[in-house]
Amino acid sequence: PGGALVDRYGRVARDLRVSLTDKCNLRCTYCMPAEGLPWLAGPELLTDDEIVRLIRVAVQRLGVTEVRFTGGEPLIRPGLVRIVTEVAALDPRPTISLTTNGIGLDRHAPALRAAGLDRVNVSLDTLDPARFTELTRRPRLDAVLAGLAGAASAGLAPVKVNSVLMRGINDDEAPALLRFALAHGYELRFIEQMPLDAQHGWDRTVMVTADEILASLRREFDLRADPAERGSAPAETWLVDGGPARVGVIASVTRPFCGDCDRTRLTADGQVRACLFATEESDLRGALRAGMDDDELADRWRAAMWGKRAGHGIDDPSFLQPARPMSAIGG
Ligand code: GTP
Ligand code: 5AD
Ligand code: SF4
Repeated sequence: PGGALVDRYGRVARDLRVSLTDKCNLRCTYCMPAEGLPWLAGPELLTDDEIVRLIRVAVQRLGVTEVRFTGGEPLIRPGLVRIVTEVAALDPRPTISLTTNGIGLDRHAPALRAAGLDRVNVSLDTLDPARFTELTRRPRLDAVLAGLAGAASAGLAPVKVNSVLMRGINDDEAPALLRFALAHGYELRFIEQMPLDAQHGWDRTVMVTADEILASLRREFDLRADPAERGSAPAETWLVDGGPARVGVIASVTRPFCGDCDRTRLTADGQVRACLFATEESDLRGALRAGMDDDELADRWRAAMWGKRAGHGIDDPSFLQPARPMSAIGG
């Protein structure tokens, strides 16, 4: 009764990731099939007010200090600016960030900044227009580049860039992506591909590993261990050519960081997930719509986190991919 989101291994969740929609305007091959997915129906989605209420419970009763909005693609949620405004007005005020594919970010960045958004992370896997179209099945590279520039000029600093490398597709682009990030002042992180695609096509052999990424970067750059505290961050970082610029690798598969995890997740249909790879969820939408008060919602959330498993278990022979794909969890 009472207190923070603690699990039986002693981890404390202070970082809440909220998926605002399962829809997206791209179709990245490692995430979604070309035809899209059966989207959540309108009434299944939390309303803007319900989202803000649950975030308020997390911030005021459960000790959450950081809120990140994800998707699908969060910029396509009509209420985004309103939600950010209301979350920024909470006392205590959490830090507020967004993970986006960048399309439309140039248009939305000033209003989001004014509403209280602190930071953005933008996905970008290639700088080659033909490759971008092949990879995302939409010819929108220019829109993403404009979004990145718009975020930076709106003062959403630091702007981080997330890149997933795929064998034989864009695994030759690590140095070019780093040169691009250095030139624009973005902080680049490479992400090992995880078994979270809707098609269940993940395979260890297509995943480009942290070791391979670092070896490829070291042919062109000097990388030194970053002396800054990593804390619970998924990214391990290196200083590039003496710093201050950094590059990161999120090596969920080959160098898991579950022991330091401080994350809790809320899906767009109001389910708490203790882990990206959780096979169980806890229904806060039903509880809220049945009339539970804030204390009861907080208790339910604590109970969900208490059962969080020690790790993702990708290496276990019995590993099963969660039923919900990445696009409906929010990464
Ligand atoms: P920062 O606070 O900016 O470092 O954010 P972040 O890196 O946590 O967030 P982002 O949404 O940019 O996520 C980048 C990648 O890290 C995505 O592929 C996420 O799925 C992955 N990631 C984030 N949190 C976790 C986690 O708890 N476990 C695992 N395995 N991957 C995670
Ligand atoms: N494995 C690793 N990262 C993924 N992303 C989407 N699907 C996967 C996957 N299967 C990335 C996106 C985005 C971030 C939120 O997660 O490219 O940058
Ligand atoms: Fe946390 Fe699960 Fe990610 Fe591991 S896989 S870091 S436990 S969310």
